Amino acid sequence: MVMNREVVGIDVGTTKTCTLVARPGSQGSLELLGCGVVPSDGLEKGTIVDLHRAAEAVRASIREAEKSAGLSISSAVVGVTGGNVMAISRQGSVELRGANRTVRPDDVATAVRRSTVGVVNGQQRILHVLPTSYALDGRWASYDPVGLRGEQLEVETQVVAGEVHSIQNLTAAVERAGVRVKELVLEPIASGLAVLTPSEKTDGVLVADIGGGTTNLAMFLGNRVTFVSVLPIGGNQFTNDIAMGFTMPHVTAERIKVTQGRAVAGSYQEMLEVPGIGGSAPRTVPHWELVRILRERVEEVLHLVGARLKQAGWIHLPASGVVFTGGAAKMPGFDQLAAQILDAPVRIGRPNGIYDVPDELRDPAFATCMGLLLWRDNHMNGTYLPHDQDNLLADVTQRVRSLLSGVLHGKN
Ligand SMILES: Nc1ncnc2c1ncn2[C@@H]1O[C@H](COP(=O)(O)OP(=O)(O)OP(=O)(O)O)[C@@H](O)[C@H]1O
Ligand SMILES: [Mg+2]
Repeated sequence: MVMNREVVGIDVGTTKTCTLVARPGSQGSLELLGCGVVPSDGLEKGTIVDLHRAAEAVRASIREAEKSAGLSISSAVVGVTGGNVMAISRQGSVELRGANRTVRPDDVATAVRRSTVGVVNGQQRILHVLPTSYALDGRWASYDPVGLRGEQLEVETQVVAGEVHSIQNLTAAVERAGVRVKELVLEPIASGLAVLTPSEKTDGVLVADIGGGTTNLAMFLGNRVTFVSVLPIGGNQFTNDIAMGFTMPHVTAERIKVTQGRAVAGSYQEMLEVPGIGGSAPRTVPHWELVRILRERVEEVLHLVGARLKQAGWIHLPASGVVFTGGAAKMPGFDQLAAQILDAPVRIGRPNGIYDVPDELRDPAFATCMGLLLWRDNHMNGTYLPHDQDNLLADVTQRVRSLLSGVLHGKN
């Protein structure tokens, strides 16, 4: 069977590649039809470093999903991450000439487009432009300006761009399996769509998706995405620390981390059996040593997140605190330690919002891929991603229309 109204999300992660297929149900809800999850290959910290190997994993994941959904996949929404992704704050403006002139969607689109001028050079490509606030005649607010009267409209945006070559490699890895890349979505935005509640998105929350090679951040406020960032650190570093700390192979350290790792100590008497060095007999070490290693790394990740927020001008965490997701956030005690260190509300986000999802996929590691399926219905107010930069204006105008139906929200 060929694809008709089905939506497909492909998350090419550092550790696993996942393809999900869903079909819109009767009330606009999505039902999961099939999935294909395989170990990734050829990626480092979210970026493809070996196209052939990465493409093979993508192909295997797509074929598995096709088999389980019983259809042939022709196009997909694909997640993007990696250290090459950058977000820059910009402003654009437009003069509203004429008597009794009100702001129209195309004015907003023009101001947004102007904010992108000169942001990227030939080596980068714009992925999203996120309008964060507007000013009418110099008064800044996060409201929807359409329909209001004024003489000058200004908009502040976050322009999110990625390196052209990395994006081309990702696209090629998917296209080699005969699948067209319909849209590219920054991964933490997708994760947020899957794990956040409507009130978190409105009141303000930070999503931190800690995967194998990256920590992806997205701030949601006033039902908009107001900040994004990618840090090149993830669960693989936790594993490396254990391997170094206990002198053991990476695969053993990974097993110990996943089966016995904890971010907060249990009983001080607890002991842990670890393989001997160079074929010698197994040793026992206190469990708290494992906890100490993991705790240090969790603290470092949280510190880096805080520093990145501060750098972008966010001194305080938003009202709803932080929702952690991604595989590395599954470590028992992670939320407890993070809440203690951040002194803010913290929870672990599991993907939601799609029907017929087996329990194995209601897992923080699948937040991004589930969110890619939900992207279709969630062009967050004014967020857009131009595939063809020449069509920027038409694209923005279309997206900005969603502002008209959006709820108006107060100042940040
Ligand atoms: N129970 C667990 N405790 C601790 N870590 C875990 C647990 N389960 C999985 N992980 C870790 O989660 C990481 C993988 O998470 P995830 O699947 O979200 O990453 P990814 O999407 O492949 O990578 P990225 O998003 O960085 O490109 C691995 O480092 C893995 O060891
Ligand atoms: Mg991921």
